[in-house]
Amino acid sequence: MPEITILDKGHDRAGFDCGVPELNTFLKATARQHGKKGISRTFVLTDGSPTILGFFTLTLCEVSPAAFPATYARTYPAHALPAVRLARLAVSRKAQKQRFGELLLTEAVYRTALIADQAGVIGLFVDAKNETARQFYLRYGFLEIPEQPLKLFLPIETIRKTA
Ligand SMILES: CC(C)(COP(=O)(O)OP(=O)(O)OC[C@H]1O[C@@H](n2cnc3c(N)ncnc32)[C@H](O)[C@@H]1OP(=O)(O)O)[C@@H](O)C(=O)NCCC(=O)NCCS
Repeated sequence: MPEITILDKGHDRAGFDCGVPELNTFLKATARQHGKKGISRTFVLTDGSPTILGFFTLTLCEVSPAAFPATYARTYPAHALPAVRLARLAVSRKAQKQRFGELLLTEAVYRTALIADQAGVIGLFVDAKNETARQFYLRYGFLEIPEQPLKLFLPIETIRKTA
């Protein structure tokens, strides 16, 4: 039965390979340290064993509404506003194309809704690694930010409807 929990030292970080070295290295070397220091939080998907099927990392950020589409930007004050950032998302090569990416993204959206309930954030932002990753996020209602083709966001209104 798949489960999503906070990354801990019992998980097999060294055995994880999503095909993107930078993401593998982050999981192995940085994710737990950042968790301890309060910089970000990493959650892993497992089948209950130490093997990591996938992971995602959330952190907080500030965004400028001036960068948004005009219709959206004018509904917000002009200063920097709080948001959640999906800093990393990856599925192990062996586990890809089994909807685990979708499951992890759904959990990230749910956790963004919890954060919004407690502290207030305007949405979930992600920097897609490349065009294929961008296409993945667009499937789930993420909106494009003008002139920043790889930056996408899911407004809090959408998150509250789905989470
Ligand atoms: C991108 C990634 C997270 C997708 O995970 P996954 O578990 O393979 O994807 P899922 O099985 O949940 O796919 C859900 C849907 O998205 C589609 N999809 C998956 N990867 C896609 C991609 N790269 N581009 C476009 N669509 C994609 C699938 O086809 C599926 O839709 P379908 O059922 O209609 O075919 C995974 O391929 C990965 O970790 N890649 C390497 C790391 C990476 O690029 N991370 C993104 C960082 S921004």
